[in-house]
Amino acid sequence: MALRQIRVDGDDILRKKCKVVKEMNERTETLIDDMLETMYDAQGVGLAAPQVGVLKRIVVIDVDYENPYENPYVMINPVILESDGEQCGDEGCLSIPGKIAEVTRPNRVVVKYQDREMKEVILEATELFARAICHELDHLEGILYKDVAEGPLRDADEAMYEDEE
Ligand code: NI
Repeated sequence: MALRQIRVDGDDILRKKCKVVKEMNERTETLIDDMLETMYDAQGVGLAAPQVGVLKRIVVIDVDYENPYENPYVMINPVILESDGEQCGDEGCLSIPGKIAEVTRPNRVVVKYQDREMKEVILEATELFARAICHELDHLEGILYKDVAEGPLRDADEAMYEDEE
């Protein structure tokens, strides 16, 4: 496994549409392992393949980032089948370091994807997990959260002080 360089906003690759993964092979296995390592290293809750410069429909998510590798989700060719409810909250992205902004997302989604064995999985997710799925799937379409944010980008450090009071 190896850490990969995280592409940052301004890099054209983050704006491209990703391609469907047709089969699992050694190269893709390595990519997935590297994505997990890179996500945990950066203390993110999710990472999409284009963020490490690969235009494949693969995302990794682990909202329980305090316990790395315990329960990571690897979603290949993910599609949202259902979404309902609403949650509004701050979101950040490893490709837009140090910034956050408020984004409204569905509170519940049902997602269909293929796992590492290319087996189809249908999963229901709520709250932060649902938010992470929506955020990461947007990356596969070349969409960044700042495109869909309600408010302006804020400094993540300042936001922490706002919460203190
Ligand atoms: Ni992101």
